[in-house]
Amino acid sequence: MKHKKVTKAVFPVAGLGTRFLPATKSIPKEIMTLVDRPLIQYAIDEARAAGIKEFIFVTSRGKSALEDYFDVAPELESALRKSGKDHLLEILKDTNMDSGAIAYIRQNRPQGLGHAVWCARRLIGDEPFAVLLPDDVIAAEKSCLQQMIEAYAETGGNMVAAMEVAPEKASSYGVLDIANDMGTIVEAKGMVEKPPLGTAPSNLAVIGRYILSPQVMINLNKIKQGVGGEIQLTDAIAEEIGKGKVYGYRFRGQRYDCGSKAGFLQATVAFGLARPDLREEFGAYLNDMVALQKAAQ
Ligand code: UTP
Repeated sequence: MKHKKVTKAVFPVAGLGTRFLPATKSIPKEIMTLVDRPLIQYAIDEARAAGIKEFIFVTSRGKSALEDYFDVAPELESALRKSGKDHLLEILKDTNMDSGAIAYIRQNRPQGLGHAVWCARRLIGDEPFAVLLPDDVIAAEKSCLQQMIEAYAETGGNMVAAMEVAPEKASSYGVLDIANDMGTIVEAKGMVEKPPLGTAPSNLAVIGRYILSPQVMINLNKIKQGVGGEIQLTDAIAEEIGKGKVYGYRFRGQRYDCGSKAGFLQATVAFGLARPDLREEFGAYLNDMVALQKAAQ
């Protein structure tokens, strides 16, 4: 291993989640359930599988359900123990985090992803760190972050998860301007947040997994508001191009945009069908639905 190990991860969860109103009026988006686990659990599991030891949540008002979720639940646990439901106790184990492993930092106002990440600066210090957006759920044999951490051990610099998108979709993402395409890894010569339609430098879009150098935090100190009046993480990473390296990583896996209703529904179908205990019944139901739809056309 040539580069410093990544052991800290930031989970920005302070957004308003307006695309899921009215649900998100009182439920944090990250607590919404995909089959039977909240979105945040998928992100935490991915980070754990990648060797992350310190979990930093950037939260906001109304997100206390998130804090409770990762705490012990003595009454529930004792009730399950008494009724001999050991398999449920086992399931709950994944939700318990060691004392001190999670830190919660507040973002007072939703000023954008870059600002949310910057809120964690004192806990990151002078170390490389990962950022995971829990509304991007990635189904992969080897966790996406683990793939990236292994690649980063060789490259160092800054690394963003990247995937090909249709040209008309590029304006919804941060997009890489490619200097050198090495296949799985590309070196970027530019990065632009939500380029206006038809102006994207490529169709390689950045999604919600990052490994960043501490210098990005320093860049965030002086970044002004960017696209949409928000402080953009993309701008702080792009500033590293030319000084340090910025790489895009074409991960192996399927990403679901659970920040959007359509993406959440697609993920629900995919994860439901992937579950051995649901596959048969749910699959049969979907087949019937498709047949009904076709017959109605
Ligand atoms: P989104 O762009 O999905 O925004 O943020 P949002 O507020 O969550 O949802 P919509 O668009 O209103 O429906 C991407 C990630 O960045 C976090 C969000 O919590 C989400 O995980 N974020 C965004 C912050 O933590 N703070 C912000 O100011 C903005």
